[in-house]
Amino acid sequence: MILGTSLQGTVTQIALLASVVSLCTADSTPQEAVCTDYSITVRATADLSTFAGPKWTDNNELTQFIIDVNGRIPNLPSPFNGDQNVTSDYKIGATFCTPRDAHAKNAKTVLLATHGLGFDRSYWNLPYDPDEYNFVDFATQKGYSVFFYDRLGLGESSSISGFVNQYSVQLAILEQLASYLRAGQYTGSVGVPDSIVLLGHSFGSYLSHALVAYKPDAVDALILTGYGLNASALRFDLVFEAWQFRIASGQDEAFAKFDAGYTTWVDLYANINTFFKGPYFSLDVAKFAESKKQPIAFTEPLTINPGALPLPKFKGPVLLITGEYDFIFCNGYCTDVLDSPADLIFGASKKFKSYVQPNMGHGMNLHKNATGYFGVVTDFLGANGL
Ligand SMILES: *[C@@H]1O[C@H](CO)[C@@H](O)[C@H](O)[C@H]1NC(C)=O
Ligand SMILES: *[C@@H]1O[C@H](CO)[C@@H](O)[C@H](O)[C@H]1NC(C)=O
Ligand SMILES: *[C@@H]1O[C@H](CO)[C@@H](O)[C@H](O)[C@H]1NC(C)=O
Repeated sequence: MILGTSLQGTVTQIALLASVVSLCTADSTPQEAVCTDYSITVRATADLSTFAGPKWTDNNELTQFIIDVNGRIPNLPSPFNGDQNVTSDYKIGATFCTPRDAHAKNAKTVLLATHGLGFDRSYWNLPYDPDEYNFVDFATQKGYSVFFYDRLGLGESSSISGFVNQYSVQLAILEQLASYLRAGQYTGSVGVPDSIVLLGHSFGSYLSHALVAYKPDAVDALILTGYGLNASALRFDLVFEAWQFRIASGQDEAFAKFDAGYTTWVDLYANINTFFKGPYFSLDVAKFAESKKQPIAFTEPLTINPGALPLPKFKGPVLLITGEYDFIFCNGYCTDVLDSPADLIFGASKKFKSYVQPNMGHGMNLHKNATGYFGVVTDFLGANGL
C-alpha cells in the first residue's frame, strides 16, 4: 500500500495580496446571523509532490491505478517522483458569519472551519432543514462567529489540476487564513478576534491537526470532527474500494470543468456506505448530499501521511469528536479506538477530550442528531472559557 507515504510538505511563507468583499446572498444564510462572502487572494508556498502517474484518461485506467495503489503488490513504484517548491496565488471563496446581536458573548471567538473530501464550504451551512443540520446556524445562535471556506479547487476557490491539488498547499492556505483572522481581516464587524478555534471535518481535521503541529501559536483551540488516529482502525484501503471512484467529469455535467485527476464515488449507495449509518439518517438527506457532492482530487488523499504528523506542542484545548459508527476512521466502530493514542498525541494540551458521538456515521452534520453533537462542541468551548 502506497497511500499515505508521500507527505513532505511544510508550510513556509505566504502573503496576502488582495481581497474582494460582497454581501452574502446565500439562501441558507442563518436567520440570526450576519454573513459576508469574501474572495481572498492567498499567496502560498508549499512543497508539491509531483505525480508520476500513470495518469488515467478513463475509468478503466483509474480503476487499475486504484487496484495497484491500494493493494499489497510488492515493490510498486511510488506514484510521486520528487517535489517542487511552488509559490502561487490562489483565490479562496469564504464566508464569515457573526451573530446578529453584536453584543453576543462569544462573537469574538471565531471558528475557522475546514470541510472534508466530497464537500465544499456548504457542509457547515447546509440549506437542508437548517434547524436540524446547519452548524453555522447553531453556533451563531450560541453567540459564536464562524469563518468557513471552499478548499482549493472547489466552489468559488481557484481551479487547479486534480493531479496537483494536495495536502501541503492546502495546509499553507489554512495557515495563512488563520493569520488573516488573527489580524482582524475578513471578520466583518468583529474586528480582531479574542480567540480563534480551528474546526475540521475529516480531511479538514488532518489539515487543522497539522497546522497546530507545525505552528502551535496559530490558534487557541482545536476541534477535530469525523477523525481518528488509531492506525489499527484506519482502513483507507476499504474506503477506497467502497467508494468505487469514477472520473468526476464523466459522471455529472456540473463537473465538466474538472480534469481527470478529479474523481467521485460512484453513486448514492457508495456515499451511504462510507458517510452514513442507518437508521440514524434520513434517506432524503443522503440524496440531498449526493446531489451536492464535490469531486475529490486524487492527490488529496494520496498525500495525507497520518503517521508523519508531528506531536503538537499545542497547549490549547482539543476536542476530538467522531460518530460511533464512523466507517472511514474507525472501520465502523469508534468506541474503543478514539481515545488512544490521541490522548498521547495531544498530551501537551491543557484539556484534551475525546467524545464518541452516539448513533452517527462519518458525515456527522448529515445525521439525525447533528444538533446533539453541535451542542457538545459549543459546550466544550464554553467550559474552556471560549
Ligand atoms: C521554498 O523556497 C523558499 C525560497 O527559496 C524557502 O525559503 C522555503 O524554505 C522553501 N519551502 C519549502 C517548503 O521547502
Ligand atoms: C488502538 O486501539 C486499540 C483498541 O482499544 C488499543 O488496544 C491500542 O492500544 C490503540 N492503539 C494505540 C497506538 O494507542
Ligand atoms: C444526541 O447527542 C447527544 C450529545 O452527544 C447525546 O447525549 C444524545 O444521547 C444523542 N441522542 C441520540 C438519540 O443519539
